[in-house]
Amino acid sequence: MSSYRIALNFEDGVTRFVDCGANEKVLDAAFRNRINLPMDCSDGVCGTCKCRAESGTYDLGDDYIEDALTEDEATQGLVLTCQMVPSSDCVISVPLPSTACKTGMARFSGTVAAVAPFGDAAYELALDVPEDAPAFLPGQYVNIGVPGSGQHRSYSFSSVPGAHRMTFLIKHVPGGLMSSWLQGAASGQVLEMTGPLGSFYLRSVTRPLLLLAGGTGLAPFLSMLEELARQGMAQPVHMIYGVTRDQDLVLVERLEEYARRVPGFTFTTCVADAATAHERQGYVTQHMPAQALHGGNVDVYLCGPPPMVEAVQKYFKSEGITPASFQYEKFTPNLVAA
Ligand SMILES: Cc1cc2nc3c(=O)[nH]c(=O)nc-3n(C[C@H](O)[C@H](O)[C@H](O)COP(=O)(O)OP(=O)(O)OC[C@H]3O[C@@H](n4cnc5c(N)ncnc54)[C@H](O)[C@@H]3O)c2cc1C
Ligand code: FES
Repeated sequence: MSSYRIALNFEDGVTRFVDCGANEKVLDAAFRNRINLPMDCSDGVCGTCKCRAESGTYDLGDDYIEDALTEDEATQGLVLTCQMVPSSDCVISVPLPSTACKTGMARFSGTVAAVAPFGDAAYELALDVPEDAPAFLPGQYVNIGVPGSGQHRSYSFSSVPGAHRMTFLIKHVPGGLMSSWLQGAASGQVLEMTGPLGSFYLRSVTRPLLLLAGGTGLAPFLSMLEELARQGMAQPVHMIYGVTRDQDLVLVERLEEYARRVPGFTFTTCVADAATAHERQGYVTQHMPAQALHGGNVDVYLCGPPPMVEAVQKYFKSEGITPASFQYEKFTPNLVAA
């Protein structure tokens, strides 16, 4: 009998995956995995188990009443997990923190396979992880402990889920705790991780996508692009990748490769530095062609440092641009500096 992978994305960003049998209800599959999703009647009457299906196909069930789930709610993607039977892998967002469902982040370790520096701009960190390392959704992040410090830093996966080598694209912050550790890191060292985390992940692709990356905010998009390449893209996907200085423009050849491999994927780059030699000077908002917005019929994903994310939000507001959906991730620095 086939089963489907159900990602349960909790309000605190924690994500757990459970296998759900072909005729099994999501609530039952979660309980089997010791995850107590909210529930009361388990009969489709009270509505306590209401969650949102972010992607995937499923049968809503026949035995629930309108008081528990209205037709409107069902059209908007709400589901009753005590009734819902998946017919594909699904992502379900649960409107409660993971601790309220008696679960939490997975802990696992990875062994440094390589640390590749890109001048003084960034590092690509590659970690080998065991077969049973937790799955994640393309776009999510993990907390990585900085050895010997008792502190951790958050990094978005740039690799695709399921790979035994996880990769990360990490900005070089002079004097930064993780940056300093990476400078002296050697293969074979072990890093402890907790996650996966985050609500910034690739949803079902039902319309054109606009991906806006700032600096190492490129990382989660590399994971998403690989997933899109696997799925086969049915919609146009345009990326604008903006950085501060010329030397921060890293891994462009990876994007060129996607542009060759994946029909429908295009990208441009820009550099903010006024003294740049790059052909497009300025911020991503200055290099956003009207056709990439598809008259608003577009899902926008935005990731980068907080000022960039805020600038794009402000730009959309001032231009009266309301995309069909808008997901963003801010690479907020830690409050307590080392
Ligand atoms: C959800 C999430 C996902 C993230 N994913 C990534 C990722 O994929 N790649 C990535 O590079 N970063 C990512 N970050 C940022 C990352 O977690 C660290 O904050 C960053 O790498 C700096 O860590 P550090 O230990 O080197 O420096 P720290 O020791 O934390 O900082 C040293 C000093 O530099 C300042 N500082 C920190 N970051 C910056 C910066 N970007 N620019 C200028 N000054 C800074 C600090 O305020 C502090 O004064 C993410 C953050 C979040 C919240
Ligand atoms: S638990 Fe009551 S409707 Fe699902």
